[in-house]
Amino acid sequence: MTSDNRTFPADFLWGAATASYQIEGAVAEDGRGPSIWDTFSHTPGRTVNGDTGDVADDHYHRVAEDVALMAKLGLKAYRFSTAWPRIQPDGRGPANQAGLDFYSRLVDELLANGIQPWVTLYHWDLPQALEDLGGWPSREVAERFAEYAEITHAALGDRVRHWITLNEPWCTAYLGYGNGHHAPGRTNGADALAAVHHLNLAHGLAVRAIRAADPGAQVGVTLNLHSLLAKTDSAADQDAVRRIDGIGNRVFLDPIFKGEFPADVARDVAGLTDLSFIQDGDLATIAAPLDFLGVNYYSRSVVSGPEDDEGFHDSHSGAWPGSDKVQFHTRGLPVTQMGWEIDAPGLTALLERVHAEYGPIPLYITENGAAYADEVGADGQVADPDRIAYYDLHLRECAQMAADGVPLRGYFAWSLMDNFEWAWGYEKRFGLVHVDYATQVRTPKASFSWYADVIRNNALITAPDTGK
Ligand code: FCB
Repeated sequence: MTSDNRTFPADFLWGAATASYQIEGAVAEDGRGPSIWDTFSHTPGRTVNGDTGDVADDHYHRVAEDVALMAKLGLKAYRFSTAWPRIQPDGRGPANQAGLDFYSRLVDELLANGIQPWVTLYHWDLPQALEDLGGWPSREVAERFAEYAEITHAALGDRVRHWITLNEPWCTAYLGYGNGHHAPGRTNGADALAAVHHLNLAHGLAVRAIRAADPGAQVGVTLNLHSLLAKTDSAADQDAVRRIDGIGNRVFLDPIFKGEFPADVARDVAGLTDLSFIQDGDLATIAAPLDFLGVNYYSRSVVSGPEDDEGFHDSHSGAWPGSDKVQFHTRGLPVTQMGWEIDAPGLTALLERVHAEYGPIPLYITENGAAYADEVGADGQVADPDRIAYYDLHLRECAQMAADGVPLRGYFAWSLMDNFEWAWGYEKRFGLVHVDYATQVRTPKASFSWYADVIRNNALITAPDTGK
């Protein structure tokens, strides 16, 4: 049940988010090295329409215009990511000063407009040179990440107070190395599990590096946690939930918040790996205390056990190594352009659970939003009532959670503007601002004005006009 609570705590942080490869373009400028997403998107058949991030939103050249839009929106915080290959073109060694200068200018522009910069250090654009060394399945990449974090913090830490180590390591590990839908496009379950561990380790090492340099820094991580329902209460369906929760959520949450690798997941994946990549001391490193947890939420999943009686194991690839035969079900709920079912109460279920089992820790929604096939109308406006309705539903849940004592401190809309939606290319539009990719003209959508009202009022006062 959604409630009528429509106001937010006085200090609630209102933000919007983007990521470097999705918006910057300028992939070969000022010394930036290639990333795995350059390689992947330029490989035929990997992205819809063969789209690449070569130009994207050309944000690299339009920072002032884009920050002006953020100021107009009334943002209190802007979450963006730094591109590792802009800062260390081949993932190691001395910094590329031009890359640091770009982010330094962005940070200054944000602060001049009263907007807090929230930096994500890794939103998927691994330097290609590190993939060539073995990528995330290789331990060395975790060590290199700590060095990159230190360099980036040294350049921006005098002005940036909020640091997110990783964005959605689930996607990096399982889509990048498990089912190959994301860069680098590899398909090996054991590699995906090694990547999980090295991402966790990279996180822990980066937390340590930032804290050593800056004890007052606010440091967290962003996870795309899966909000799960069992199809039925059968033992097989309950076991499907346990498995997906284990490999999708607890392989990150348990090491990070409890310093443990989940024993049941170790059993589920025993046919693929003995986890010998977890070395003595790693889990303690990974469990470094955090200041906040960022959660990205878009939809909820309904799962059940395998349809035949062969058990949960299948191939050694896929996004759910060791549990490939779990079935995912739709429920006929309304969907966004991604085909993702809209289920706002799933957000509350998820955050209440995280708070109960892993808290107390301040929580931020670091991404939430919806794609629709928006068009600029003849009147020059972009009407996006479905997106407004989506935001309204989810923000109602947020208002109620905050009132109920869940330590939800802020919300970042995904996304500030339409951008390169990874393997989906430019077809899927998530922005509050429409981008015409041929001209780079930005047009704030109706949802932009609506969200600006929410921020200004610190409340959901304007009822969504669903246009229906
Ligand atoms: C998340 C990603 C973000 C964007 C949204 C739609 O998984 O973090 O970059 O693609 O999904």
